[in-house]
Amino acid sequence: MSTIAVLGAGKIGESLLSGLLNAGYSPENLLFTERYQQRAEELTKRYGVRATDPPTAARQADVLVVSVKPQDIEPLLDEVGELVTPDKLVVTLCAGLPTSMFERRFASGTPVVRVMPNTPMLVGEAMSAVSGGTHANESHLELVEGMLGSVGRVVRIPEDQQDAVTALSGSGPAYFFYLVEAMIDAGILLGLPRSVAAELVVQSAVGSATMLREGEGHPVIMREGVTSPAGTTISGVRELEKHGVRAALIDAVEAAHSRSVELGAKHRQETDSDGA
Ligand SMILES: NC(=O)c1ccc[n+]([C@@H]2O[C@H](COP(=O)([O-])OP(=O)(O)OC[C@H]3O[C@@H](n4cnc5c(N)ncnc54)[C@H](OP(=O)(O)O)[C@@H]3O)[C@@H](O)[C@H]2O)c1
Repeated sequence: MSTIAVLGAGKIGESLLSGLLNAGYSPENLLFTERYQQRAEELTKRYGVRATDPPTAARQADVLVVSVKPQDIEPLLDEVGELVTPDKLVVTLCAGLPTSMFERRFASGTPVVRVMPNTPMLVGEAMSAVSGGTHANESHLELVEGMLGSVGRVVRIPEDQQDAVTALSGSGPAYFFYLVEAMIDAGILLGLPRSVAAELVVQSAVGSATMLREGEGHPVIMREGVTSPAGTTISGVRELEKHGVRAALIDAVEAAHSRSVELGAKHRQETDSDGA
């Protein structure tokens, strides 16, 4: 079994460690790095996984999962860049950073796989999209898909679709939280206690999501199934249409996409000028 090191065990990195352990990876085959000693000790106590420093992780592990915030990437690459050779696999979870940026910093031929996960990884229900860089082959991609499959679902996409993924499933949980929040407010307006409104809405969201994932039908068919002639639901749906909610959601995802493209261009400019 490969040794996997998670560089930056914050929210996403910790969730991945936990998912890998649940999926049967042995703690002996896992490593992580963290800046604060206290956090490192807590994680070792919780998971039985060894903490180390980034250079040691880069030397000892076969797979390096980069899970620091994009703004923290430069000092990390300075520390490990020269130690990463083509026999390693680098997996980057950093939003917006292209595989080419990593490839430039490691020995020529080093395989890099880019992943866009989302926060439901915290509960083992992530949606992750993976893209191989120039030197990543089928077995590298399969290894990464297997790892991420331990914390949710995975799709494979060309790297030029990563901005669209960021806008849809990366930011997506925030839109669902926003809708749930608004519906809970509506319940309160109708006189329900907050806790009851929250339970009604959250369970309706979980049930609907389960139907969407496990049912055979299209969302339109499912919505039609609860929209009876002259009933209550169609009165509500008419208001959603009147207020342009469908168009607003499409615009929201499009705006998130534009921002992702803009941030990507900024990262590329910064890293190009750092490397120059
Ligand atoms: N959260 C999301 O929804 C989401 C979705 C998609 C992609 N991502 C990507 O996932 C990555 C991690 O995000 P996150 O939300 O888990 O961030 P986070 O909670 O801030 O975790 C990053 C961790 O890395 C540590 N770190 C930073 N520099 C380090 C270094 N040189 N050596 C060792 N550890 C270092 C940080 O320590 P400190 O506490 O000292 O800063 C922190 O614990 C990001 O690149 C983000 O773009 C996140």
